[in-house]
Amino acid sequence: MRIAPSILAADFGCFRAALEAIEGAVDIVHFDVMDGHFVPNLTFGPALIRALRPASKLVFDVHLMIERPETSLSSYIDAGADRVAIHHEATPHVHRALMMIREAGRQAGLAINPGTPVEAVFPLLDAVDYVLVMTVNPGFGGQSLIPATLKKVAALRRRLAEGGRRIPIMVDGGIDPTTIGPAKAAGADEFVAGTAVFGTGDPRAAIAALKEAAGR
Ligand code: DX5
Ligand code: ZN
Repeated sequence: MRIAPSILAADFGCFRAALEAIEGAVDIVHFDVMDGHFVPNLTFGPALIRALRPASKLVFDVHLMIERPETSLSSYIDAGADRVAIHHEATPHVHRALMMIREAGRQAGLAINPGTPVEAVFPLLDAVDYVLVMTVNPGFGGQSLIPATLKKVAALRRRLAEGGRRIPIMVDGGIDPTTIGPAKAAGADEFVAGTAVFGTGDPRAAIAALKEAAGR
């Protein structure tokens, strides 16, 4: 299992310090890119990823909550993203966008909103390296996990097993020590956590608590 702290919940004035605070405790950090259109909130773009890249050895996991991601994907890749997830709902050219990520040698993730049926990802499974199942509606940190989304995680895990495919299922939103166990039991193995890590005074202890709650 893997915890991916989201810097969305960190102090926006001190992102370098946020990366230092988790370095060694995890191997990955999650960047929530929001464009003010696909989601009502606006965060940061490739310039931030580029600026932080030399400051950290962590895997940079970039979650694009932006419309028509294929038009700006390359700037996130050039900035140093190791993994890029795009939303199924954000473009009519999902497969093309996923191929662009892979052709650049990065891992391609496909994200789905709570309102999107999990079957939407089934025809694309050969084109993805991980699936990001949103467990809240994207746009803001600090929301409560929507329990029905875990049924989609379970259905996806079953489908992958039937196809003999073992790729990560990442869950994102409302993950805390009370929800990480049920999410893991449903079949998730990567857990984005913003508030539960950076909303505490001690990110390292919070990561340890999440691992403990998940049963390691
Ligand atoms: C929501 C983002 C999440 C968010 C999770 O749009 O995609 O990554 O940061 O935050 P918490 O863990 O606070 O729900
Ligand atoms: Zn996210």
